[in-house]
Amino acid sequence: MSHLVVVTGGSAGIGRAVLHAAPADAHRVDVSRRGADGPVDEHIAADLADPQGWRTVGSALRRLVGSRSWERVSFVHSAGTLTPIGFAGEVDDEAYIRNVLVNSAATQVLGHLALAALADLDIPREVLMLSSGAARRSRPGWSSYGAAKAGLESWVRTVGDEQRQRGGVRVIAVAPGVVATAMQREIRDTDPASFPGVERFRRLHEAGELADVADVAARLWEVLDDRERFTGGDVLDLREVTGGGR
Ligand SMILES: NC(=O)c1ccc[n+]([C@@H]2O[C@H](COP(=O)([O-])OP(=O)(O)OC[C@H]3O[C@@H](n4cnc5c(N)ncnc54)[C@H](OP(=O)(O)O)[C@@H]3O)[C@@H](O)[C@H]2O)c1
Repeated sequence: MSHLVVVTGGSAGIGRAVLHAAPADAHRVDVSRRGADGPVDEHIAADLADPQGWRTVGSALRRLVGSRSWERVSFVHSAGTLTPIGFAGEVDDEAYIRNVLVNSAATQVLGHLALAALADLDIPREVLMLSSGAARRSRPGWSSYGAAKAGLESWVRTVGDEQRQRGGVRVIAVAPGVVATAMQREIRDTDPASFPGVERFRRLHEAGELADVADVAARLWEVLDDRERFTGGDVLDLREVTGGGR
């Protein structure tokens, strides 16, 4: 089986674990600034806060898709950032702009570029994007992050409908729960003035209730592999669809 797996944010956290958990014979490609360790076949260096980085990823996707006769292609968009945590109108302007570019703009543009690269293939193809519970509830201190995840879910619903009409790529959004990664460390280290909800995350950590990143990656692959149940346009909470986790 020749399976192309491209993961943004493959250098750390959930994206890195998704690459590690990919089928043994997959061709694994990471998109990030730092680059992934471990079993990765290719690294695409891109800063997703820079539109030039999006173009780099689009060209790389077209080259990769055309480089072999694949039997399946999976594009997982895991790159994301909470920085700067703090109230809108109070945080640093440049950091806020980068947050919007990485979380909102890059997500939509990379989704579009992935679909364009995959358009002419007649094989199983899927785009899975990491969402968050913050898409659906107010979390003061995370305004641009939450708005981006709400936008991501809207994009997946609409594009899922489009791809059912023509295209045939399965497009799925998954909120993974509270997962033990660097992003959670950043949350716990934030002062309550910038993020009033911090105590809940500190308590979950102290109680050992964060989901294990390898377990989350395995369950994301369950979603990717289940073509009968998740046909595209699905907006999922991983804790509800595969059990386990927080
Ligand atoms: N962890 C959780 O509890 C949790 C909960 C809900 C949703 N999520 C979502 O799950 C996804 C993964 O989160 P995580 O916890 O694994 O985060 P993480 O450990 O902080 O890793 C973030 C990844 O995103 C990449 N990234 C960040 N900014 C980038 C940029 N400007 N250009 C390119 N790549 C960039 C990083 O790569 P480089 O630094 O090497 O560029 C890194 O690989 C995110 O979309 C997040 O919103 C996580």
